[in-house]
Amino acid sequence: LSDPFKPYPMIQDYLDFNAMKELPESHAWLPLDELPSTYGSSTPDPVPLINLKDPNAMKLVGHACKTWGVFQVTNHGVPINLLEEMEVAGRKLFALPIHQKLKAARSPNGVSGYGVARISTFFPKLMWSEGFTIIGSPNDHARKLWPNRYSRFCDVIEDYKEEMNKLAQTLMELMLGSLGVTMDDVKWASTQGSCPALQLNSYPACPDPDRAMGLAAHTDSTLLTILHQNNTSGLQVYKEGTGWITVPPIPGALVINVGDLLHILSNGLYPSVLHRAMVNRTQHRLSVAYLYGPPSNVKISPLSKLTDQKHPPLYRPVTWSEYLGTKAKHFNKALSSVRLCA
Ligand code: SIN
Ligand code: FE2
Repeated sequence: LSDPFKPYPMIQDYLDFNAMKELPESHAWLPLDELPSTYGSSTPDPVPLINLKDPNAMKLVGHACKTWGVFQVTNHGVPINLLEEMEVAGRKLFALPIHQKLKAARSPNGVSGYGVARISTFFPKLMWSEGFTIIGSPNDHARKLWPNRYSRFCDVIEDYKEEMNKLAQTLMELMLGSLGVTMDDVKWASTQGSCPALQLNSYPACPDPDRAMGLAAHTDSTLLTILHQNNTSGLQVYKEGTGWITVPPIPGALVINVGDLLHILSNGLYPSVLHRAMVNRTQHRLSVAYLYGPPSNVKISPLSKLTDQKHPPLYRPVTWSEYLGTKAKHFNKALSSVRLCA
């Protein structure tokens, strides 16, 4: 993947969050009640929670994808202790002094390494978060962070990626299966050729959370994303007709987002979910996102099983990196800009 998200944030955009006693202007967003919001008077429906061992799991997953574009899963097969170890590894990484983290900073043309949120370039204000992106082997970056003891971190990352890859396959089977599509129709999805990324996010406690934004509203440019959040809430999803809804952390559960490429693949039947992360005054929040997409040479287009004369394909074929390029050019309008007849 090349990085279409340029120009890159300047080195002075990096903040030593722990040293900040008040919110700098660079990070002060509008009062958040001026952002499109929020609940009606009644209690909103909660984001669906699905037990993957439920005999009806496929149907439930399909329904959640159609109506929400997001759901949480339990009984997903990922060992709980691995989730905990991943969280510990993330904590250790972000607890390093800023000068140490910057040794593993993303290069101007690179995608992996330490840095501010990749969507920062599309917004006038900076976000109250820091991130670490891992594509391929974590070794080079880990060596820069911990010259003598990097192997434990790398082992956890590799184990985590392997478990996530298995879960992503299971989820693809359920999501597509519920549309009557089998893995034979998307042979590339069962190969190891895809180029998944792991995105670690850290949201330090914030002196002025009402004016700060952890991660601004976006959809993921993936097929699907598997998100592990620690036990601090902050993730919100946008539901048409309702507004922003918090996705409560449930110990051991994982959050699944429908990404833009699944939106395209399903010819719009599964809408990708708009989401954002809020911050709070006292707790440090961590999340780990596994970004699952197709192999780099595969063009994603609406599945032929889902299109006919009455339901023409709404999107033209794009590879993952072509889509990222489009998104960088037309942020927030990306899906409409890959429409056939815009
Ligand atoms: C993300 O959208 O990548 C992360 C959201 C979160 O931290 O909950
Ligand atoms: Fe996201």
